[in-house]
Amino acid sequence: MSQTDPRLLEEISQLRADLDDANYRYYVLDEPKLTDADYDRKLQRLTQLEAEHPTLISPDSPTQRVGAAPADGFPEVAHAIPMLSLDNAFSREDVVAFAERVAERLECLAEEIEFSCEPKLDGAAVSLVYEQGVLVIGATRGDGRIGEGITSNLRTLRSVPLKLMGKDLPELLEVRGEVIMRHAGFEALNDRARDEGSKVFANPRNAAAGSLRQLDPRITATRPLEFHAYQAARLQPDRGDTTHSALMARLSTLGFRTSAELSTMRGPQAVADYCEQLGEKRDQLGYDIDGVVIKVNDLRHQRELGFVARAPRWAVAFKFPAQEEVTTLNDVEFQVGRTGAITPVARLEPVTVAGVTVSNATLHNADEITRLGVMIGDTVAIRRAGDVIPQVVRVDTDKRPADARTITFPDHCPVCGSDIERLEGEAVARCSGGLYCAAQRKEALKHFASRKALDVDGLGEKLIEQLVDLDWVKTPADLFHLTAEQLQSLPRMGEKSSTNLVNALNKAKNTTLARFIYALGIREVGEATAANVANHFGTLQALQDADLAALEAVNDVGPIVAAHIHTFFRQPHNLETLQALLDAGITWQESEVTQGPTPLEGQTWVLTGAMDTMTRDEGKARLQSLGAKVAGSVSKKTTCLVAGEAAGSKLTKAEQLGVEVIDEATFIERLAAWEQSE
Ligand code: IVH
Repeated sequence: MSQTDPRLLEEISQLRADLDDANYRYYVLDEPKLTDADYDRKLQRLTQLEAEHPTLISPDSPTQRVGAAPADGFPEVAHAIPMLSLDNAFSREDVVAFAERVAERLECLAEEIEFSCEPKLDGAAVSLVYEQGVLVIGATRGDGRIGEGITSNLRTLRSVPLKLMGKDLPELLEVRGEVIMRHAGFEALNDRARDEGSKVFANPRNAAAGSLRQLDPRITATRPLEFHAYQAARLQPDRGDTTHSALMARLSTLGFRTSAELSTMRGPQAVADYCEQLGEKRDQLGYDIDGVVIKVNDLRHQRELGFVARAPRWAVAFKFPAQEEVTTLNDVEFQVGRTGAITPVARLEPVTVAGVTVSNATLHNADEITRLGVMIGDTVAIRRAGDVIPQVVRVDTDKRPADARTITFPDHCPVCGSDIERLEGEAVARCSGGLYCAAQRKEALKHFASRKALDVDGLGEKLIEQLVDLDWVKTPADLFHLTAEQLQSLPRMGEKSSTNLVNALNKAKNTTLARFIYALGIREVGEATAANVANHFGTLQALQDADLAALEAVNDVGPIVAAHIHTFFRQPHNLETLQALLDAGITWQESEVTQGPTPLEGQTWVLTGAMDTMTRDEGKARLQSLGAKVAGSVSKKTTCLVAGEAAGSKLTKAEQLGVEVIDEATFIERLAAWEQSE
């Protein structure tokens, strides 16, 4: 047998370490390090090396997250220690009563007891078993004694370490926690499902549980799932940790995501305060929680307290108000958005959902109305979570009144009367009126003036609606022809606010290409895409002239977005509006169109440490506009490292690898020279 080249082994091991580290930073710490492109490049390289040398594949390699074939069913897994449920508390008094019960058993004062408090995550409970640091079994809770073995599915979650981090690894570790789906991922998944006519989930919990129970792990791998650890059920050796909070800190060093909200509190009043404060923060977390889990922090005390029936005596779940309530659907109205999309909006009998009064909910589109089978007059379940728009999730058809009415989708725009079109394969129906439609015009103008676009101070939504209703403003360019005298005649517009607005409009004329592109409101061109496009093309003319292939070459621009941009710049009325805006005096600093290859084409740069004269983001943007790639970590492929103040491990690594290192002053000199030469 031929000996394996040590350089190959070294490269494979470095790639694995880099990818594990990138996963950990991205999925556990929320501090991305590699760009997506760099991550993909490394993963591809590793996949290629492993394909060429299959004997070198190991089950804990980052390439092996999706390796298993679809299963026929899931094997049973008996939990070595049952996965229990928790008793509930609903009020301050319940929390105090729990602490008193604990105190009585421990023969101490409730005020003296230390509790560990953390969010009660609303997802699916799972258990992960690690032997000698390697993940061997992942299972659902099941009935608490026997769960389903879903190891192959859990391996696809990048927040689940395939092997534990660090040196001092336990022989045996069973970690328990919750698999959750964040609101943003949940919304995106359901939006996609609505477009494709596939299964829509009622809430993130169902989506998480359903995604975990896929027989094909490749499907689970596409779902935005996260594992959050909340308990070390078995740990050998235990290294003498004596509290739950210390164990959680240990889990974090072993590579798990634990709750950032975890806090220890002494006495029931402090615990109840924590519950109240977390309740206030609930809407801002970005994922569903349904309460607080309160645990006696001292592990010896936990053992002493033991269990009753299905629940431990040492913990309780403080429950928040439900996020789903039932009410009546009084009517349905149809709203017209910026791109003409017609959205049916449910007008509801007002109902308080998790502390907020809800009187409207989205019904998304015609297919959703069919899917729900909802009629006007129906009793419906409404869900409200975080910043997500309230949704109708279910209909109780048993309660349908005799006079319930079918919802009819209009065939003409309710605002401008134009035909409504629904393109083949699209779930969304749109008003065909374009900027003729006052509703679309209003939304387009609101977008144009918004903070991330031209950021026109003092031009609020109500004012825009008035200006459109009066026919003073038809296109964004008309905004710049408004005069203070004219504005003063509007209700609630004095001399001062009129002058201020005209000044703000003048100020907004000086902008950046990225903001301008974003402000145009091209379909699916958000802030980030606009910035990428601006960076890539440098000038509006270059962007306007770009063909589909050139557009698709931009970072993060796929065929659909490329087509939207291409179409936008080929509509005569859009070109007229663009010209009118430029004539009105909108300007930005143009970077020259680069002729031929850019000076740093093909180079990979890394920035580290703090700089005095610019932020790292600025440095990165300037390098990118010169054609360089900017990576998050130093490797053999790095062309140059810019080391600012207090540069740490990247500097050491660059020195080890013999990568060129320059300081801030040299960096600035070189940037200036390259930018001149362009
Ligand atoms: S500790 C002995 N901590 O709540 C029980 N559970 O009713 C130990 N849950 O399905 C459970 N977040 O999956 C604990 N931070 C948290 C939790 C949590 C959610 C779930 C758990 C179980 C249920 C218990």
